[in-house]
Amino acid sequence: MRTRVTELFGIEYPIFAFSHCRDVVAAVSRAGGMGVLGALYFTPEELELELKWIDEHVGGKPYGVDVVMPAKYEGADLGDAEELLGRLQGMIPERNREFLEELLAEHGVEPSTESAGRALLGWTDATARPQVEVALKHPIALLANALGPPPADVVEEAHQHGVKVAGLASNARHARKQVEVGVDIIVAQGTEAGGHTGDVSTMVLIPEVVDAVGADTMVLAAGGIGRGRQMAAGMALGADGVWTGSIWLTVDEADTQENTRAKLLEATSRDTVRSRSWTGKPARLLRTAWTDAWESERSPGYLPMPMQFMLISDALRRIGRSGDGELVTFPVGQIVGSMNQVKPAAQVVYDLIEEYVESLERLNAITEG
Ligand SMILES: Cc1cc2nc3c(=O)[nH]c(=O)nc-3n(C[C@H](O)[C@H](O)[C@H](O)COP(=O)(O)O)c2cc1C
Repeated sequence: MRTRVTELFGIEYPIFAFSHCRDVVAAVSRAGGMGVLGALYFTPEELELELKWIDEHVGGKPYGVDVVMPAKYEGADLGDAEELLGRLQGMIPERNREFLEELLAEHGVEPSTESAGRALLGWTDATARPQVEVALKHPIALLANALGPPPADVVEEAHQHGVKVAGLASNARHARKQVEVGVDIIVAQGTEAGGHTGDVSTMVLIPEVVDAVGADTMVLAAGGIGRGRQMAAGMALGADGVWTGSIWLTVDEADTQENTRAKLLEATSRDTVRSRSWTGKPARLLRTAWTDAWESERSPGYLPMPMQFMLISDALRRIGRSGDGELVTFPVGQIVGSMNQVKPAAQVVYDLIEEYVESLERLNAITEG
């Protein structure tokens, strides 16, 4: 296939795969697409090891790194990660901690041994910048950022290293703001998507964004893309390629916990919900007893980013290890309804392409006929 993004990166297929799992990233890049590693959950030292591993296993193919530098979050005025952590920890209300522990006890999850709120992940400028520094020391081809335009100096630094910058956007206004700070590629992500997501559907969003950013900016279609027919639709809507996330959670190589994977394989496209219960900002998650409880009348409500995740991160680990399993949830999009089989990542790439080609043949036959 030849589009502006395949030419730009020297890849065979315009398929981008977001994953927190290095094995998936390397496998997709080796198969001719482009893997993008989500750096969020790694300390700079861990990220260094992950990227070193990818460098050794990607067979010289291009790959990317994704960080999350939100335009808005609690404590954004504090530059230092330790200071930020200390201040935010003290701001988590007792009522929210109690609600969480009660919920866990009801589902037989072991009580916490450490005080909730120790974790501060990459959802801040202060924690994402060191990740960017590590990433730029590796031969990455792409730096992606979610939750708002990346700081202009980060875009400039990436460009100085010859690295292209992508930004996720869920509406046309946000996409234009990203272009203003120098972002090269817009990932236009519809509400169907897993993880943080807006409220406009992919079908409506892609042409809006393509028209809003103008012919010089490349656009990748995201949200609900898991099959070749959906890929063809994204390209038909004007995108230069597709950006996918959910479908990699159930591939062979994925490090998804077994109880989570089993739930994802069973879920239908109606089993997700946009919920603030993960990070404080709306994110599409598998709907389970967890999301229902946070929406219920007894819920204390959500804390602003990054405090909600600080509150729940230890609980998520415990839910994964013990209890009745009913609270197990995970960020995933509506495409989860089509994720019914475990396959190698390369096979998923080839299946996407095969069905994409079939779709085009079918459409061509209509025009010719
Ligand atoms: C488990 C999971 C975690 C995600 N985490 C991030 C993230 O840290 N940064 C980011 O830019 N996008 C993140 N996303 C969104 C993906 O990059 C992608 O835009 C989205 O999954 C596309 O929609 P799809 O899930 O329908 O394929 C995440 C998605 C999932 C499923």
